[in-house]
Amino acid sequence: MPIHAANSGWVLETSQTAYAIGLNAAGLLAQRYWGARLPYPGDYPDPLNPVERTSFDSSAHMTPEEYPGYSALRFTDPAFLVSFSDGVRDVVLIYKDYSVIDTAKPELILRLQDAHYPLTIELHYRLHEAYDLIERWVTFENSGETPVLIKRAFSAKLTLPQGDHYFLSHMYGRHLDEYHIQKEPLVPGLKHVESRRLTTSHHSAPWFAASQNAQEFSGEVWFGTLAWSGNWKISAEVTEFASTRISIGLNDWDFAWKLMPGQPFTTPAAVIGYTQDGFHAASRTLHDYVRNELLPHGPQPHKVLYNSWEATLFNIDEASQAELAEIAARIGAELFVMDDGWFHGRLSDNAGLGDWWPDEVKFPRGLGGLIQKVNDLGMEFGLWVEPEMVNPNSDLYRTHPEWVIHFPTRARTEARQQLILNFGRPEVQNYMIAVLDKILRENNIAFVKWDMNRNVSEPGWENAPGDPRELWVRYVYGVYRVWSTLRERFPRVIWQSCSGGGGRADFGILRLADQIWISDNTEAIARLSIQEGFSQFLPAITMEAWVTDWGRDLVPLEFRFHVSMCGSLGVGGNLLEWSPAERDLAARCIQLYKEIRSIIQLGDQYRLISPQKSEFSALMYVNKEKTRGVLFVFRVVMPDPANLPVIYLKGLQPEALYRVEGFDRPRSGKAWMEAGIKIELKNLQSKVLKIEQI
Ligand code: DGJ
Repeated sequence: MPIHAANSGWVLETSQTAYAIGLNAAGLLAQRYWGARLPYPGDYPDPLNPVERTSFDSSAHMTPEEYPGYSALRFTDPAFLVSFSDGVRDVVLIYKDYSVIDTAKPELILRLQDAHYPLTIELHYRLHEAYDLIERWVTFENSGETPVLIKRAFSAKLTLPQGDHYFLSHMYGRHLDEYHIQKEPLVPGLKHVESRRLTTSHHSAPWFAASQNAQEFSGEVWFGTLAWSGNWKISAEVTEFASTRISIGLNDWDFAWKLMPGQPFTTPAAVIGYTQDGFHAASRTLHDYVRNELLPHGPQPHKVLYNSWEATLFNIDEASQAELAEIAARIGAELFVMDDGWFHGRLSDNAGLGDWWPDEVKFPRGLGGLIQKVNDLGMEFGLWVEPEMVNPNSDLYRTHPEWVIHFPTRARTEARQQLILNFGRPEVQNYMIAVLDKILRENNIAFVKWDMNRNVSEPGWENAPGDPRELWVRYVYGVYRVWSTLRERFPRVIWQSCSGGGGRADFGILRLADQIWISDNTEAIARLSIQEGFSQFLPAITMEAWVTDWGRDLVPLEFRFHVSMCGSLGVGGNLLEWSPAERDLAARCIQLYKEIRSIIQLGDQYRLISPQKSEFSALMYVNKEKTRGVLFVFRVVMPDPANLPVIYLKGLQPEALYRVEGFDRPRSGKAWMEAGIKIELKNLQSKVLKIEQI
């Protein structure tokens, strides 16, 4: 049993790591340890009992508490904040008891109770031993008679071992330019990254990694992510006593939850981990966890898809889509996805959202004719929807203007001429379930791309069930409810999460969607960096990547294919304009991709030379058995003569012999990894090399 409980202390052990908690002499629940697993449960340090330093530095303030509230002389950043109905905002938490759920994924629950008020807080820890990951979430319960206002409710507070200074790695970006990795020193004070946009956001990702001297393949990394598709926050605090603490959870910005008697509130789960083997190892275990534990269809390689958006925009009808489908099938696509523009009144982005039935002019026979054609061509059919949105110019909005998120006294700010339906409202959820159910029931649809193309404004909710600020959370639960109901009803359907590209990429949505459209930027050079950032926490199987015409005049088609082949390959260019030679090349690339996709989508990814740092980059994938691999190398634009770096392969068995395509003789895995290889490329050239064990 990996959960050890003794003497008011708990040790949680995974395969290589451990996390220890305990009650200190003052009865405070404190973190004792987070790091490498030690040989014996008795090895873990006892909880700290800091001695009050002066009247300004209390003992409680200096204790690395497991889930501190605002209370007495504590001034570090609290994990939660509440306000009782009599105005008291101070919490005195007392440890009550614990329980252990002994299953394949064992769970520890620690219960804390306020000394005076009927507020109980349960801290949950679920162990994923094989992945060295712990899932953490918190439940608040009010057993009194008056509501308690929750003003903050993080999922976890984490204290890093005292020692050297830490660096925080996180991600920033924008629409069309997501997933830049930022690594910065943590200095005394508070640093936070967040989303306030209602969705996960393009601007930052709910992922962090803290490190001291770690590199890609070595060194200690403490990391985590939040399984949530709405506003989130990660804060890192370095106290005046050099204690580094990280919080992760729901964003408390404009947040409040009225905790009604008998109605618990549960936070989303944070997934946290530790490794001694660098950023690669952190990513690898998250990738495995996503593939095996989250994705609705598990580790099943995705089909090569064709998506019509960039080719035709809103200008679609049955005949033109069928024409594209014919070429798509010829070059080897297995799934044809019709994007935006197919539904009632959708001639441009000015109208139509909300009216989810086929446009009578573009599709007078409904979708059935096109779907049959696509199926006859040997492909499955996929469809685009944007269920959370409505154009003011739509029948739905004319009927239900009250359904959108708004403040009654303010103008309703539009973005892309659209407003957001309040998915927190059950009647909106039920309506959308019925509408989408009808489309899926009446048509042979194998894939749905669920899009969301704006950020929130005027976040109001008249007659909200609790505090109007519950919108931020109720909205996301509403999206989850609609999506999961449809998933249960149509289990065969593969869903893709898109929000104008990578606006909704997180562990919460990946319980519903098998794929993510990670950026609206399909320009191959920009993609190299975007894709690398994404790989920090999400695997290639989830990363839909199209080859389009963006950058066509500059970047060769083969290069563009190679970039997209690093994920789940799709094509989105206007095939009608591709020459016979381009179509032949596309067919060859797709054929090659089909031969190697199981390695890319199900294997281990190694970032060898970063495109975020270098114009010459390399990455590879190796299957779990370490018998097959594939190496991708890209050179963007470097002045000549360029001194190209040596590429050191990774992930091979040292003693086994491997052949690397293009090299005259097999060598040991150790030789490829230690001596490395040189690949000569000219500007804007790329290579894909197969690696086979012999
Ligand atoms: C934004 C998406 O990211 C695009 O791929 C496309 O689906 C458009 N929306 C359609 O409006």
